[in-house]
Amino acid sequence: MFKKILITLLILAVIGGIMALIHHLRVAHRNKKELANFSQETPYTAQLGKVLVIYYSWTGHTQDIANQITTLTKADTYRIQTQEEFKSSPAFYARIKKELNNKIYPPLIEPLPDVNPYDVVFVGGPVWWYTMATPLYSFLGKIDFKGKRVIPFSTQGSNPGTFLKDFTANVNNAQVGTYANFNNVGPEYNKAVHNKIVHWLNNL
Ligand SMILES: Cc1cc2nc3c(=O)[nH]c(=O)nc-3n(C[C@H](O)[C@H](O)[C@H](O)COP(=O)(O)O)c2cc1C
Repeated sequence: MFKKILITLLILAVIGGIMALIHHLRVAHRNKKELANFSQETPYTAQLGKVLVIYYSWTGHTQDIANQITTLTKADTYRIQTQEEFKSSPAFYARIKKELNNKIYPPLIEPLPDVNPYDVVFVGGPVWWYTMATPLYSFLGKIDFKGKRVIPFSTQGSNPGTFLKDFTANVNNAQVGTYANFNNVGPEYNKAVHNKIVHWLNNL
């Protein structure tokens, strides 16, 4: 009996491993294909006026994209921070899932930024459970964009889910511009990701 359970568990683990590997290979293939479109270096030509880049980043990926936008557009920048410092653990994923289901969003460190002086405001953050990370919900609930041009962006492992739809439904009084999303990829794609950012900004 014990042997049978052990063999079943082993088979399930092998199947799980194979499925994870197939998923990983598929995502890698998709990233390669998408970023091949951005192998050419493009000069930055956008003229966006006075720009503010607002972002939330827990593990640094969104910060990296936000920094590149900031440098290119010569923007001011504002990092959204939660009052609680989130600690990484497997339980954190389950907690966030529950909080998203119950619309419980974390309190933020204030003051929040004044968006009034800006022509264009970028707002970005990670995808959590196929939607916006909870601190972005907290943030958007507190800001009136008063008709400003707001450009959303996200970073994610591989699936942005309904980030844009949820962003658009939660951003107050904004003219939402062209969204861009960035999968997490290895350093071999740094140039292509940069070119993708330049291309996006030039076409806003
Ligand atoms: C709680 C949680 C849920 C996540 N859910 C998704 C998801 O649904 N889809 C996805 O592609 N990546 C998901 N990720 C991965 C993050 O979106 C990705 O690593 C992102 O680039 C992290 O951004 P940051 O480093 O700026 O915090 C999740 C990460 C966390 C912590």
